[in-house]
Amino acid sequence: MSGPSLPPAAFAAPELIQRLRAAVGDAGLVTDPQVLAALTTDWLGKWHGHAAAVVRPADTQEVAAVMKICHDTHTPVVTQGGNTGMSGGATPDASGAQLILSTTRLNRVRQVDPINNTLTADAGVTLAQLHEAALAHDRFFPLSMGSEGSCTLGGNLATNAGGIAVLRYGTARDLVLGVEAVLPDGRIWNGLRALRKDNTGYDLRHLFVGSEGTLGVITGAVVKLYERPTARATAWVGADGLDHLVALLARLRTACGERLAAFEMMSHESLALVLAHTPGLRAPLESRHAYHALVELADTHDFGLGALLESTLGSALADGRIDGAAVCTSDAQSANVWKIREGISHAQVRAGRAIKHDIALPISALPVFVREAEAALRAADPAVHIVNFGHLGDGNLHFNVLLPLDTPPERIHHATLRFNGLVHHLVRAHGGSISAEHGIGQLRRDELPLYKPAFELELMLRIKQILDPNQIMNPGKLL
Ligand code: FAD
Ligand code: MLT
Ligand code: ZN
Repeated sequence: MSGPSLPPAAFAAPELIQRLRAAVGDAGLVTDPQVLAALTTDWLGKWHGHAAAVVRPADTQEVAAVMKICHDTHTPVVTQGGNTGMSGGATPDASGAQLILSTTRLNRVRQVDPINNTLTADAGVTLAQLHEAALAHDRFFPLSMGSEGSCTLGGNLATNAGGIAVLRYGTARDLVLGVEAVLPDGRIWNGLRALRKDNTGYDLRHLFVGSEGTLGVITGAVVKLYERPTARATAWVGADGLDHLVALLARLRTACGERLAAFEMMSHESLALVLAHTPGLRAPLESRHAYHALVELADTHDFGLGALLESTLGSALADGRIDGAAVCTSDAQSANVWKIREGISHAQVRAGRAIKHDIALPISALPVFVREAEAALRAADPAVHIVNFGHLGDGNLHFNVLLPLDTPPERIHHATLRFNGLVHHLVRAHGGSISAEHGIGQLRRDELPLYKPAFELELMLRIKQILDPNQIMNPGKLL
């Protein structure tokens, strides 16, 4: 992590800028310091870098031309989509030598095929625009998250994004059929296949999913579409123990099968934080509970979803497996509970300095893990403020520690090392992962070798060496 500092005295060589300008035109090159400042800081305001320039190619050919120049001149490239990533992957380093390749002008939806249930788009199309394009054909693209107004298809694939619909539809990796990418030397790989079956050897698209800008620039992709769920039933649940919510998840799966579309969890502290920092939201239940869940069923037709949700929650209440529940009876109520869920990230930024742990565990291990992790953190600091929320249906917790806004950087640094060690040690002990959906970026780069088998890392480095021999793609991130 680096703090804000003055820009370096020398920017990129004028000759390089000249060649880039020839490749992308004036509209494709940004040197305005104000624009650069916004793009060289991440969404959380945690990482601050400097860039020689920002190039914004208008199409795949222009990306290829830019990459050829960067390959020849050994210019390091940081690909950036919506700049909403949580691991600092899209922020350049402090040298001022790295180039940001922004995908914001790669913004065309190329094709929607409602018969094949596929959509082909440029990498810079935002997730919200993908939703709209699918909807215009009465189809549904299920990837969904709080950043969807800004995050891009390319960023979603490069981070293998998760979000709130994974338990039913999977992560970005599960939703992609084809990828088009520009390799670090400027060659274009057209893997835009719209096929659900293709057993012709190694499946290269998956190399680029989760690659975090280290192997090449994703310029387009084919994704799967689904039938549009037009019926929804949403509820808010209160539980006095996390084991109650885990049991409820299993019960809902049995009773509702594929109709279970979301199962999001937040602790009492997370709920209190959102309500304190977001005007206009109301607590859905009057009673106080240690944990809450937002549960949603969805279907293409309303086969009595509300009644199914009510009866399943009713029987869990009667058995004492949950301790409070309210099924939303209006769109306004559903909107309120979703705003609460999606407001946590913003509330954390307003309330303090979050030490984030984006972890995945077997769902069955979650209650024991949380008990042990809370005990370990409280033993280290009895006043620790834990903000625990996440995608319980996927076994993915955002098990964060919130420090006061005015905490000095040195103390943040030490607390981060200490808490990361405690939490990640337990994550490993329970067979989990230290990055469920936010990637490694610069946030976890130093920790990765502690938790990933050396052999896997070696293979990753060898693949990187083949594709990017000059090591120009996103240096200092992931590997
Ligand atoms: P960027 O932030 O611009 O880039 C992220 C990484 O991808 C960088 O390493 C970058 O180099 C690389 N990259 C970007 N585009 C390309 C490309 N075309 N080719 C190659 N590499 C590329 N994430 C979740 O998974 N689940 C959530 O629920 C979730 N909720 C969020 C809520 C909020 C409010 C915010 C701010 C973020 C949230 N995120 C979530 C994180 C973030 O939105 C995702 O990681 C998203 O996929 C990043 O997309 P982006 O276009 O902003 O990528
Ligand atoms: C979420 O689930 O809200 C996101 O992953 C964002 C976050 O962790 O802040
Ligand atoms: Zn999340």
